[in-house]
Amino acid sequence: MAEDESKLGQTEGLRVPDIKPNFKTARARLASLGLSLEDLFRYGLILDVGAKDCEIAKAVKAKGYDSVISVDRAFSEEIMASGMRVLKEDARSLSLENNKADLILVRSSAYYYTETEEETFALLSELNRVLREGGEQRIHPARFGHIIRALLTERPDFFNAKAKASERRSSTELAVIQSCDAIANVRTAEFLERHSIFAKRREGLEPNAQQNFREYLSIPKFHAR
Ligand SMILES: C[S@@+](CC[C@H](N)C(=O)[O-])C[C@H]1O[C@@H](n2cnc3c(N)ncnc32)[C@H](O)[C@@H]1O
Repeated sequence: MAEDESKLGQTEGLRVPDIKPNFKTARARLASLGLSLEDLFRYGLILDVGAKDCEIAKAVKAKGYDSVISVDRAFSEEIMASGMRVLKEDARSLSLENNKADLILVRSSAYYYTETEEETFALLSELNRVLREGGEQRIHPARFGHIIRALLTERPDFFNAKAKASERRSSTELAVIQSCDAIANVRTAEFLERHSIFAKRREGLEPNAQQNFREYLSIPKFHAR
């Protein structure tokens, strides 16, 4: 990081001057996926799924690369007008050709919100379809929404702790959330194994303050049997 990142990419390549890169946010998001910003420069095409404010794409672009397509089903008008490479689509059904992306990042987004096993599968299959041979999906946190939802029903203490504003949670409630998140991580790994989808559980570059957000999943392109 030799250059002063606060001065980089304020307007160049972006049509809306207000859309400035926030390197700290981009680097923190990438760290939870085991990546540095510089790691991204070696990939051809990267999809950031559930990109919201496109912080990863903005940071990469400010460093002189235009390799990130940001995907989200709900981009703001400002983002849509920014001139960045964006796809306003549901990640379960993308208008991209097969085998296009070298790396797919899914951070705190689509997998976290799936409600049923079928929905998780639709997402897994669609992202796998657009992933190139040799590429991988990196998913953080390392658990799927339908599994979290099942646990919320199973465990009223988890449900009650999650229902509270995060700053009002007691240490007991925080411990319940941490242990249920860990159970959801294990069940997610078992779910993938049952479906013969090979996945690695990895730790991010920096542990998140809420230790439960430490892990991500890496899923290489798979071939359904
Ligand atoms: C909490 S934000 C995450 C933003 C950013 N990725 C991060 O790491 O902070 C979740 C985003 O995922 C998007 N999202 C959720 N499900 C999606 C889906 N099935 N397809 C596309 N985007 C989705 C939402 O619209 C939202 O912008």
